[in-house]
Amino acid sequence: TDKKLWGGRFAEATDGLVELYNASVPFDQRLAEQDVRGSLAHVAMLGAVGILQPDEVTAIEGGLHGILADIRAGTFEWRLDREDVHMNIEATLRDRIGPVAGKLHTARSRNDQVATDFRLFTKEAALDLAGKVRALRAVFVAEAHKHLTSNGGEPVILPGYTHLQVAQPILLSHWCLAYAEMLERDESRFRDAAARMNESPLGAAALAGTPWPLDRFQTASALGFARPTRNSLDSVGSRDFALEFLAAGSILAAHLSRLSEELILYSTFEFGFLTLPDSHTTGSSIMPQKKNPDVAELARAKSGRVFGALMGLLTVVKGTPLAYNKDLQEDKEPLFDAYDTLSITLRLFTDMLPRATWHAQATLAAAARGYSTATDLADFLARSGVPFREAHEIVGALVGLASRTGRQLWDLTDDEMRAAHPLLSADVAQAQLTVQASVAARASYGGTAPTQVRAQVDDAQRRLEVN
Ligand code: ARG
Repeated sequence: TDKKLWGGRFAEATDGLVELYNASVPFDQRLAEQDVRGSLAHVAMLGAVGILQPDEVTAIEGGLHGILADIRAGTFEWRLDREDVHMNIEATLRDRIGPVAGKLHTARSRNDQVATDFRLFTKEAALDLAGKVRALRAVFVAEAHKHLTSNGGEPVILPGYTHLQVAQPILLSHWCLAYAEMLERDESRFRDAAARMNESPLGAAALAGTPWPLDRFQTASALGFARPTRNSLDSVGSRDFALEFLAAGSILAAHLSRLSEELILYSTFEFGFLTLPDSHTTGSSIMPQKKNPDVAELARAKSGRVFGALMGLLTVVKGTPLAYNKDLQEDKEPLFDAYDTLSITLRLFTDMLPRATWHAQATLAAAARGYSTATDLADFLARSGVPFREAHEIVGALVGLASRTGRQLWDLTDDEMRAAHPLLSADVAQAQLTVQASVAARASYGGTAPTQVRAQVDDAQRRLEVN
């Protein structure tokens, strides 16, 4: 253990357990790349404005490049007694180039340093996830396109549910596009968040700014930020950029969890709508017949980690007075964990979904059950002038009759139909009650009719090609 970089006023050594509790280097070493980039931008600017001499800048830059190479090679020695990523790098720089290393921290605090590192990381993570969400979005659009004709040239039809009770038939492609829409919003949430956090806190110093004649615009642009942050207190004390990342991540996780639930349900023996690929399912150690949807189950469960990260950081932030508090050191692990969790989950779904097999006969049969086209019969009556509420009542009575006698609506006799309403007959029922007629009729904008869905697939493909 060497003397602390901040040890000037201290007479006694730090307690061992305190050192362990206080240290963030086990996890914030993940910010090493960003930290060195920040230091390189800072030292170049210190040289440019004349705070450091050219030879000092050269010595510090050389040392930092050597350190970066060692970090990348995995040979850099991370020391717990050096507390965090920032002081590990600075102390090693001093070991290597001597006292001139001490000039690097001129006009800088670890408070603006960590805010800069973490913003750089979070911005890159947000853009990375936006790209991965987009890849999964493209899978859903491609699947939507494929299932317009994958059933022997016909669209695959799926039961649509509300309350998990059979509601109305829909196209499988329509279902795919529903997820594509959610993912499109998820992607844009990450891009919006990245744009909003695209400001450099470097130069805010501890909290109040600095008397040194810094050029914050230079460091901001060197680091790829659009501009410097405008308020030094806000710069070092705010973590809403991380909260926003986690909020966007939590909504995405909720979407992936709903998707998982549907895949788990639809791949059961009882539903039999789809078979997940062997590559993304697992077996049982005792039951030879088992093929378990572990990826989907884990994705459903891991949404909890992501929500937890958001709740955790909200709780960390809410009670802290301005500006920096050590509490904020607790911002990193949840964000890293949420990022890793979402990143791998997105990759798995992007690989898994195109390899799943949908069973068009089973989904069609299921789509026809449960009186799923009863609304169509009511709409038929309403089109002929019967007020919709009355039509609903009449068809409801027919459903009651059919279900009490164990039949489908199209099994009802001509007499039974005519008794319900003079405009009804067995022939009318046959024509109105097919699932094909039901989906074809729903040609309202955004509806499930093949004409509409085809247009929406085209539009979704176009949106993937542009921005
Ligand atoms: N490891 C600290 C963090 O992650 C760095 C900033 C510490 N600043 C300070 N004045 N103690 O937040």
